[in-house]
Amino acid sequence: MNQMSLTRKKSIALLLAQASESHLKRTLTARSLIALGIGAIIGAGLFIRTAAASAQNAGPAVILSFIVGAFGCLFAGLCYAEFAAMIPIAGSAYTYAYTTMGEFTAWTIGWALILEYAMGAGTVAIGWSQYLNRLLGTLFGSTIPYQLCHSPMEVSDSGVRGMINLPALFIVFILTALLVKGTQESAAVNSIIVGVKVAIVIMFIVIGWKFINPANHTPFMIPANFPGHEGFFKHGWGGVLGGAGIVFFAFIGFDAVSTAAQETKNPGRDMPIGILGSLAICTVLYILFGYVLTGVANWTEFIKAGKEASVAYAVQNHMPGFGWLATAITVAVLFGFSSVILVMLLGQSRVFYSMANDGLLPKIFAEVHPKFCTPYKCNITLFFFVGALAAFIPDSVLGDLTALGTLFAFVLVSIGIWIMRRAQPNLARPFKTPLVPLVPILGALVCTAMIVGLDRYTQLTGIGWMLLGFVVYFLYSRSHSKLNTPEPEIGAAQTSAAQ
Ligand code: ALA
Repeated sequence: MNQMSLTRKKSIALLLAQASESHLKRTLTARSLIALGIGAIIGAGLFIRTAAASAQNAGPAVILSFIVGAFGCLFAGLCYAEFAAMIPIAGSAYTYAYTTMGEFTAWTIGWALILEYAMGAGTVAIGWSQYLNRLLGTLFGSTIPYQLCHSPMEVSDSGVRGMINLPALFIVFILTALLVKGTQESAAVNSIIVGVKVAIVIMFIVIGWKFINPANHTPFMIPANFPGHEGFFKHGWGGVLGGAGIVFFAFIGFDAVSTAAQETKNPGRDMPIGILGSLAICTVLYILFGYVLTGVANWTEFIKAGKEASVAYAVQNHMPGFGWLATAITVAVLFGFSSVILVMLLGQSRVFYSMANDGLLPKIFAEVHPKFCTPYKCNITLFFFVGALAAFIPDSVLGDLTALGTLFAFVLVSIGIWIMRRAQPNLARPFKTPLVPLVPILGALVCTAMIVGLDRYTQLTGIGWMLLGFVVYFLYSRSHSKLNTPEPEIGAAQTSAAQ
């Protein structure tokens, strides 16, 4: 193959050889993977974007949006599971693409993953800021001034313009400091946070069920003539699809399970269980949660008054006697969001680390701290990038871009499974995606449909971002790629491991 070909690939043998040099220990089981998945999945998507999708596109039919989103994730999740079991190596979708579709596609996915992880971390940090403000209001009766907890692109109902989102910047700073120091979320801490998050979600569903007002669920979909909802993706079934693109954010994170493949005891069995198990549990919870939230409060309330910290708003205003639940939700959310941000920042640094190791990004992103053994320069650079996003851009913009980047990566991973089945049919596959090529095609189609349902501004910004990525690739990465030099000899043992 031409040395500078856009489709030059990293061989699986080389990947496995690099992995065998790693010092990561294989300690994770299927159970811990499910906990890891839920820890990364339940966050701002559920506690903020359910209400946003309902207010902007779907109304009470947001539960159908969850089902559409879940299908896209299920198909893509099956493909992720096959890859993660077959190539149990850190780096996730970027790494898979490098061996299947070649360097340029891998670069494209890596660049799209910045949207997923970095912008995702920024979005959840803004959600954290909203719930912090609500807690301060409940405990001390006063909140941070609007200007200091909103971006300059936002204006309050009373006409005050935001300046900077300081609490969002603060939480990104704290979590970056933790990552630099190498303070790992221990399995125990993660399990506690996951337990608290799931308990709060179940509590809201069970208690809220009694406060459902059936009138709030009628009409179930937003009518075509509802003022401000005339566009195709703003009402009816189109609205369900538009809403799916928004609540899709709530599912992001199950793919983070695949980044832990290198630390899993029995990846062939446990990866599919971890990925699909966490997805299944969250889907059931989300549908019930969406049903209760839009039954307790009317979806139109989420357009203005209940726009921020929407779940706490619904409890406080429609569930008399359960003020404590609003406070409990707020506290659980603050912890829960922190774990999501941490996993996202970690995921981003791992992807950057892999890309820098491959020569596609500057070496600085792969430099490890002499004492803490963490890619600290990468983490600090990310702090400035994610911090600036969280401080100066609204969550709706960042959240939609996050969904776009993730959906795009899912489309490419789905296609990658199909390509790999044809290109290397004899490779050992501990887990096989069923019904290939139907499932990958459906995965690619459902995720593409959700991309189409996102608003135009998001799509154009996403295209701009990807074009910028191509410029960086052709100006820098292509000429610095390690594939420009021939691959080192791979030991016979590793080569056979790949067969
Ligand atoms: N799924 C994660 C959340 O909803 C990203 O916060």
